[in-house]
Amino acid sequence: MSHPIIFDTDPGVDDAQAIAIALRHPELELLGLTTTYGNVDVETATHNALLLAELAGREVPVAQGAAAPLVKARHPPPAHIHGANGLGDIALPPVEGKADSRSAPQFIVDTLNARPGEVTLVAVGPVGNLAAALQLDPAITGKVKRVVIMGGSIREGGNVTPVAEANMFNDPDAAARVLTAGWPLTLVGLDVTHRCVLTGEHMARIEAGQGALGKVLAGSYDFYRDFYREFLGIDGCCPHDSCALAWLLRPELFTTGRGHLSVATSGDAEGQTIFAPEGRGFIEARWSHTPLVEVCLGVDGEAVSDWIADTLA
Ligand code: BDR
Ligand code: CA
Repeated sequence: MSHPIIFDTDPGVDDAQAIAIALRHPELELLGLTTTYGNVDVETATHNALLLAELAGREVPVAQGAAAPLVKARHPPPAHIHGANGLGDIALPPVEGKADSRSAPQFIVDTLNARPGEVTLVAVGPVGNLAAALQLDPAITGKVKRVVIMGGSIREGGNVTPVAEANMFNDPDAAARVLTAGWPLTLVGLDVTHRCVLTGEHMARIEAGQGALGKVLAGSYDFYRDFYREFLGIDGCCPHDSCALAWLLRPELFTTGRGHLSVATSGDAEGQTIFAPEGRGFIEARWSHTPLVEVCLGVDGEAVSDWIADTLA
């Protein structure tokens, strides 16, 4: 079965790996890439999305979206993790294509309306484009097949604050709207992405299998890997964004739970995802008022990492 998807992204080294899967996997029909600021500014994100598609020899619409968070001031991009160019500061070939004339939110709305009930929206950056699409056309909640988001953390703690994951922290106001919009939603957060490690051996196989695209994936991986080695003591990197696609195509590798999500939008807990399991009573009902969603709680990390390498090798 082929899954038609829109892939919303801020490439970014681990985004690039996931984009490669979206471009190459035979069970995915990539309808378009939509871009957001996050790991880089949005113009760089669009440039990188166009480049990666061109390196794969594919013509895929790329629609540019959010340049900043909905409410809060934008944090500077994390150049020490992804490089100033988002791809590990390696030299990149020129890009020939141009972005779609539509904005990312408009592209999302048009695409979901053109194929109601069919399209899965996979988002792996700050979720401002999804929030803006909901504002443009609230009826898309009933048209999307599923929304799969790499972001948040249920029990794992945060990666940019003690409690917040980067994509949620970068735009908590957008996240609060998107995670509670009442559409079918699966959250793929740090609880599972931190269990997956893409090793140097994995990347060597990917480089060998992906031609010019493989050179960019491998070169940017080396930079990203230095960050993981220095700050987290891991030899390899967490392929966060690819995990969202792994969940879509290999759900049997994950364990999930159902419940209610809310997002803290200010204060020390800004960007924290708060999960109230279905049916569990708390001292007040307010944590259980939001629509039911699915969250990933566990994963066979080795199998997911191998799946990524096998897909791209
Ligand atoms: C998320 O933050 C970004 O830096 C990564 O690309 C990923 O989407 C992980 O917290
Ligand atoms: Ca990302």
